[in-house]
Amino acid sequence: MTNKSSLIVASTNKELEVLLRSLSYGRFFVLCDSNTWRECFPLIASALSDRPCHVHIIPPGEIHKQTETLLGILEELASQGFQKSDLLVNLGGGTVSDIGGLAAALYQRGIPYINLPTTLLAMADAAHGGKTAVDFSGIKNLIGTFWFPQHTIVFPGLLKTLPQRELHAGYVEVLKQALLAGKQAWNKASKLAPEQLIENPEIIYEAARFKLRIVRQDPNDKGLRQVLNLGHTVGHAVEAWSLRHPEGPLLHGEAIALGMLAELRLSVSHAGLDESFAHLATKVFSKFLKPPIPSKADIEDLLQYMRYDKKNRAAAIHFSLLVKPGKALTGVSIGENKLRLALQETLSVIQHQ
Ligand SMILES: NC(=O)c1ccc[n+]([C@@H]2O[C@H](COP(=O)([O-])OP(=O)(O)OC[C@H]3O[C@@H](n4cnc5c(N)ncnc54)[C@H](O)[C@@H]3O)[C@@H](O)[C@H]2O)c1
Repeated sequence: MTNKSSLIVASTNKELEVLLRSLSYGRFFVLCDSNTWRECFPLIASALSDRPCHVHIIPPGEIHKQTETLLGILEELASQGFQKSDLLVNLGGGTVSDIGGLAAALYQRGIPYINLPTTLLAMADAAHGGKTAVDFSGIKNLIGTFWFPQHTIVFPGLLKTLPQRELHAGYVEVLKQALLAGKQAWNKASKLAPEQLIENPEIIYEAARFKLRIVRQDPNDKGLRQVLNLGHTVGHAVEAWSLRHPEGPLLHGEAIALGMLAELRLSVSHAGLDESFAHLATKVFSKFLKPPIPSKADIEDLLQYMRYDKKNRAAAIHFSLLVKPGKALTGVSIGENKLRLALQETLSVIQHQ
């Protein structure tokens, strides 16, 4: 399947219903986790009432983004006799769209699917771009492929039941994308609280459109798409570190907020980002920090995680850095001593807030 996926926005239940009814496929295989089945499926049930539909429910959370869950989905598709003329519908956050997208890619060497994201992270980011995966052998997203959805339907009304912590963590990715999109997008997004999003859905649509624009230019993640890694080299290390912390784990967006602080600092020293702008942006991302926060004693652990980061070629640690809103550099290699210093300074600033 090539990258022809479209982004469709629905602002009311009625619009969502009309959209779902207009999809011309045979049967629907709706994949939910137990929370999205309880909270979100009732909102689409009437739109599906006049067509053959099978619902498959998986347990929620990253811990179940595993081959066992994937095999369960494939077994169900087979036992229910699903065909290439049918449609898999991923109703959930990034966990559901990652695993459901992979099941769609594998079953009968590829069947069509759509994403109906239910978390902010998935609406703005994970549900676009065709990256599908499960975790394997203790490594995140080790098994996966590119398989693009036919459509991603963004209906912000589904966020009404999303836990506040998930909403806040998702907003970090919205902010990061706004920074990469440009000054106008950043000014709008940085002034809003995540709770105001349902009344201001344009911010979500803009983040989704931005992600899709980048993906269309670089569907297989060979170059441009790496700008989206801003905040993620340090952020992924913090996320991995938090898994072993008694107060952890952090949600992805919470770890990325800390990553953004460190990488804004590196953007000033290595990409020429204006220092006063970095200071303002740091204040915005700081609102989304959550414990546990690493201490200076954890810096060597963080560096170790970064050495293993998949973006790092030839033993150097690489970054995507911001030059100014709307402009980023990719593949910037930074020596460990400079990185150690930037982490020390970032953690000191957080401690004194
Ligand atoms: N493929 C990509 O490009 C990409 C990009 C970013 C992240 N991801 C992946 O996304 C996953 C994280 O996704 P996520 O942050 O969306 O979390 P998630 O899908 O794990 O959902 C988080 C929690 O919220 C619940 N939930 C979801 N929507 C709800 C709703 N509307 N109401 C009530 N509860 C709801 C879920 O059941 C779950 O418990 C990770 O596995 C990550 O690797 C993929």
